[in-house]
Amino acid sequence: MEIKPYLEEQRRLVEEHLARFMLPAEDDFARLIEAMRYSLFVGGKRVRPILCLAAARAVAGDSSPDKQVMPVACAMECIHTYSLIHDDLPAMDNDDLRRGKPTNHKVFGEAEAILAGDGLLTYAFELLSDPAVSDLPADVRLRICHTIARAAGPLGMVGGQSLDMANEGREIPYELLRTIHRSKTGALITAAVEAGGIAAGADRDQLADLTTYGNAIGLAFQIVDDLLNVESTTEQLGKTAGSDADAGKATYPALFGLEKSRTMAREAVATAIGALESFGDSAEPLRALATYIVERKR
Ligand code: IPE
Ligand code: IPE
Ligand code: MG
Ligand code: MG
Repeated sequence: MEIKPYLEEQRRLVEEHLARFMLPAEDDFARLIEAMRYSLFVGGKRVRPILCLAAARAVAGDSSPDKQVMPVACAMECIHTYSLIHDDLPAMDNDDLRRGKPTNHKVFGEAEAILAGDGLLTYAFELLSDPAVSDLPADVRLRICHTIARAAGPLGMVGGQSLDMANEGREIPYELLRTIHRSKTGALITAAVEAGGIAAGADRDQLADLTTYGNAIGLAFQIVDDLLNVESTTEQLGKTAGSDADAGKATYPALFGLEKSRTMAREAVATAIGALESFGDSAEPLRALATYIVERKR
């Protein structure tokens, strides 16, 4: 399968729906919504929504309920974008550049950036739970909300971010590093895959396979993020290269070196693809996405 045209087409679809679902920046709350829209529409690979759609396809094939999955996919991108806005704040990674543009707090100020993040997180759950937006059955919507909330929360992404900050400048054991990567980045990626599967009616075994797949590519995704931070340029990434070493972040390259880290990312991707054995051709996009995640250049 050709990954490039597939990614481009899926990205276009996701952008279209994000534009449709996102609030317009007008009236009393215009400035806040403008700040939310700034980070959401400034760019981004849209990996999580694309994974969500691909997981639904893997389960339901051509009869995948794309229309019903789209709000779920877009909610994932809202939560991810919120995590980036907060990750870049001076109190956290203190970054000036994101998605090739000045970070949210550089444009709107810290207070508005915090609130734009809060707004995107909360709005994601509005999208997920609104029966006027998604006509998935209420019990399915509730399961999806729970899956995503757990992944985004204190035992998932937020917890991982807390560990990431607490361990700056420290040498930590491998197990803790893996936990940080799995929670700060892997949890949301896994939830995107699971939510797509649930929306498409995955049975228990299929969902377990999707979870294994998500965990493996989620870890690989952050290992590659660490590698790119060392090996790539600010221009190529659209965010500051070399920042992890400057901040003393706990990363795979810092612990294992570049070559071993690359091998570990490739192994995780092989695990991910292995988990899809029981799926047929309908999982080709998921397989191609796994390979893309480790080969990507930004
Ligand atoms: C960056 O995520 C932050 C991590 C969780 C590693 P992406 O690499 O998906 O960033 P965008 O969405 O394309 O900007
Ligand atoms: C990404 O961590 C995790 C989240 C944003 C939740 P990083 O701090 O390593 O990501 P980048 O490199 O700034 O995108
Ligand atoms: Mg960070
Ligand atoms: Mg960061």
